[in-house]
Amino acid sequence: MTEVRHYLQFSDFTADEYAHLFERAAFIKKKFKAYERHQPLVDRTLAMIFEKASTRTRVSFEAGMYQLGGSVVHLTTGDSQLGRAEPIDDSAKVISRMVDLVMIRTYEQTKIEKFAEHSRVPVINGLTNEFHPCQILADIFTFIEHRGSIKGKTVAWVGDGNNMANTWLQASEILGFKVHVSTPSGYEVDQSVAGIRSNDSYKVFKNPMEACRGADLVTTDVWTSMGYEAENEARRKAFADWCVDSEMMAVAQPDALFMHCLPAHRGEEVEADVIDGPQSVVWDEAENRMHAQKALMEFLLLGRVNA
Ligand code: CP
Ligand code: NVA
Repeated sequence: MTEVRHYLQFSDFTADEYAHLFERAAFIKKKFKAYERHQPLVDRTLAMIFEKASTRTRVSFEAGMYQLGGSVVHLTTGDSQLGRAEPIDDSAKVISRMVDLVMIRTYEQTKIEKFAEHSRVPVINGLTNEFHPCQILADIFTFIEHRGSIKGKTVAWVGDGNNMANTWLQASEILGFKVHVSTPSGYEVDQSVAGIRSNDSYKVFKNPMEACRGADLVTTDVWTSMGYEAENEARRKAFADWCVDSEMMAVAQPDALFMHCLPAHRGEEVEADVIDGPQSVVWDEAENRMHAQKALMEFLLLGRVNA
């Protein structure tokens, strides 16, 4: 039996595999825009398990799988035995005997790793406390569409040292770009959680303005991620100076892009004139979740296809 490939973190794939995925995502997007069918996954089923809320992840995986010719099963903690403490390994054994692919959004990364360990089919990380690889896959695809290769470029991360920040760090090590990170103290990125070997690909800045200076892409995320709601008040105070505004965009490259994985809070992590302004590509970024994940599902189930 060939080894099952999973996509649990960005570091699960090589630079060469990413080059293939970005090419496929562009091909698949072109077909979609031309209303041409591309259905390599007829009769395949994706199970989606959500233990946290979602708009983009659910719609992009569900619509994407139908467009590829397959079907989906949607489970949440509340309406499945997962919410009644059925062991994760038992759930993995059962679900993976009936479907071809599983996408999970949950809390601890260890939980998705345990599921994958007991799964007969590929498992995709649809966000954990530690990582959000599908989002960075779409973000880099979006950067490439607008500006070409990300190799050698600089990405400014302004805000929380969270799942998105960790995934950007992993991506920088694999794809050869720099991340300038600025977080309030107490919310720093942790290299060991990010799972990267060295600090060669990122640089930490106290002042968010300095992190943005010369950047090719400025990006941020909510101050309070899902699962951390109890810290909301403390975070609102700590993050007050980490709001991406037009002054930060002005010190970045003149053609710098702005991205945000969404949902966004205007007036908190980003000002409205930035996210709704001419440098923002957030709507392309959201749409590209679907095209990039269609390429990902095709790759996990069929390997490298070129037709
Ligand atoms: N960006 C993102 O993952 O959005 P959802 O939480 O709506 O899925
Ligand atoms: N960091 C955010 C991303 C939401 C898509 C969270 O984990 O809630």
